[in-house]
Amino acid sequence: MANGSFADARMLPLEVYRSEAVLAAEHERILHPAWHCLGRTADVPKPGDHFVGELPHQHADSTFGSRQVLVVRGDDDVIRAFDNVCIHRGAPLATGCGNEARFTCPYHAWTFRLDGQLIGAPYLPEIVASEHRLGALALEEWEGFLFVSANPAPTPLQPSLAGLSDVVARFRMDRYVPVHQEIEIWATNWKLLVENFMDSYHVFKVHRATFGVGSTSPLNTTMHPGTDAWAHHVALDPDEMAAANNTDLVGDWRRAVVLAAVFPTHVMQLQPDYLWYLQISPLGTDQVRIRWDVSVAPDVLSAHADPDAYVRGILQLLRAVNGEDHPVVESVRRAADGPQFARAPLSKYEQNVVDFDRFVARRLAL
Ligand code: FES
Ligand SMILES: [Fe+2]
Repeated sequence: MANGSFADARMLPLEVYRSEAVLAAEHERILHPAWHCLGRTADVPKPGDHFVGELPHQHADSTFGSRQVLVVRGDDDVIRAFDNVCIHRGAPLATGCGNEARFTCPYHAWTFRLDGQLIGAPYLPEIVASEHRLGALALEEWEGFLFVSANPAPTPLQPSLAGLSDVVARFRMDRYVPVHQEIEIWATNWKLLVENFMDSYHVFKVHRATFGVGSTSPLNTTMHPGTDAWAHHVALDPDEMAAANNTDLVGDWRRAVVLAAVFPTHVMQLQPDYLWYLQISPLGTDQVRIRWDVSVAPDVLSAHADPDAYVRGILQLLRAVNGEDHPVVESVRRAADGPQFARAPLSKYEQNVVDFDRFVARRLAL
């Protein structure tokens, strides 16, 4: 599976979707060492702006959950990531999102600067504050996304995504304005969700009432072979989008929809008018946490007399799309508990599914 011709490609063996041992191996070899997108630069525009995000994490008892990460813009305008845990006795420092001049622990009021430095520990004069800081995590910005890694020495992210930047930079999505965020738990394997997002073959069938309207054939989609770090394809909307006021774009890019994955957990749908992206994180072999966000091009927002109504329309569409995918990807996970079958060839419109599966297979040495 890891290499070979596309004609030989098949879906991964069913045990890869149902085995606890495989999930543990995925955590060790794929998820823990990787970069995960926890938010956008636009989520923390001012010093003190912060949010709590979650990294995939395997607990000591082998169950899966998350590791809370505090992402904050400092007074020096540098965005940093810390474990969201007080170094005194482990209370979470922050919840949700907001703006703080400093972080004061809710337990014993230890106080930390935005750069993680301890600056005060009440009734503890003997502690040398300058010797203690919050635990820092690696953070990189890419095209307006904030990627964090639990790996103390991760491979730099930006160089590995240079080819994807060549595709998406023209959209200038770093300017897109965050308008919505939502978290869902689905009863499926995390990889089935990545595969589904990058599968342009199912759109004409599953999404015939939403995305498929007016483009009921995958023939308007150009597949591109992926790399070991990312994959993408481009669908051309038959009509120039009514809201394609994104004047940075020219020619066919004004009606282009880019579907991209930054392996392993970040997938996005980038359009002239809005950006929809998901963070996909396993909670077990048959449970996945999805955090999805929507941002809108600023000139598109300002072109609408009622921007709120416009955003509501996007959310209504995306919820309908999710509602179409949800039963399918859950049913495929349930079927993975059944007997293995003779797997048949794939469509070229599943190129990016194969790209992702090969990335997984290489890491797991399947
Ligand atoms: S746990 Fe934070 S101050 Fe004690
Ligand atoms: Fe879908």
